[in-house]
Amino acid sequence: MDKYAVLGNPIKHSRSPAIHAMFREETSQDMEYGALLCPLGEFARTVDRFRAEGGKGLNITVPFKEDAFRYADILTDRARTAGAVNTLRFNDDGTVLGDNTDGAGFIADLNRLGCHVAGKRVLVMGAGGAARGILKPLLDEKPAYLFVANRTVAKALALADLFPGIHAGSYEDLNREDPFDILVNATSGSLSGAVPPLPGNIMTADAWAYDLMYTSTGRTVFLDWAQEHGAGDVSDGLGMLVGQAQESFRLWRGVSPDPERALKALREMLKAGS
Ligand code: ATR
Repeated sequence: MDKYAVLGNPIKHSRSPAIHAMFREETSQDMEYGALLCPLGEFARTVDRFRAEGGKGLNITVPFKEDAFRYADILTDRARTAGAVNTLRFNDDGTVLGDNTDGAGFIADLNRLGCHVAGKRVLVMGAGGAARGILKPLLDEKPAYLFVANRTVAKALALADLFPGIHAGSYEDLNREDPFDILVNATSGSLSGAVPPLPGNIMTADAWAYDLMYTSTGRTVFLDWAQEHGAGDVSDGLGMLVGQAQESFRLWRGVSPDPERALKALREMLKAGS
């Protein structure tokens, strides 16, 4: 049976095994998908061992996405622009393909929700790995304007250098910007209950607010803030998680499962606390 897993540290909390189990059942694929705890500093050794035991592919999560980037022999364009790999495929000829499906999963989820980027003014908060992974996919959707705001301004400016067409600055600079139609929280602030310091009038009427983080309730402090300040629609990042998993599954197995079904089941699982 073909073996796959999600690799990270920590890994116990990962929902990927549950998602891929649903995909496997739906598409009747002969495969198994587990969770692999990788000791820090032991990435290459752990992956080598998994391959030697017949592993066909891995999802890579925190903190190993840059290690996976270096491990791959062949990188997809989207992995190269993201500077990180979340999916490895071990090819039959012995080569290792590195891909990044996070951005595609994010755009697929926005579209699923009915939020279309073309012609919109988009604000991305944060300039770490999560932000970097979604910028090129966002630009490809042809927004009217894309601004990256970050606490450490130099990191936002570095991303603007890397991706022509992006504007960047501090949260303070947002006071000089017109309101935005789509706000994306790519900071890790929601983990600690911190909302980026946004001006109160930053949104157009009925703007979209999306948090890349997900929670059991579907709410985050940022989404609550956005709703209080006039957002029309809000969403956490659970759909993005399912979207990136769907894209990895397609890369490995050549079939594309239905994200809606898995998302609904996963949300119910989270709400039930399991
Ligand atoms: P990730 O891989 O999740 O992107 P990261 O690379 O550590 O993680 O980046 C975290 C991002 O969240 C950064 O943009 C960080 O801002 P700084 O670059 O200024 O550190 C942002 N962030 C974290 N906590 C924040 C907070 N309380 N307020 C605003 N931004 C925050």
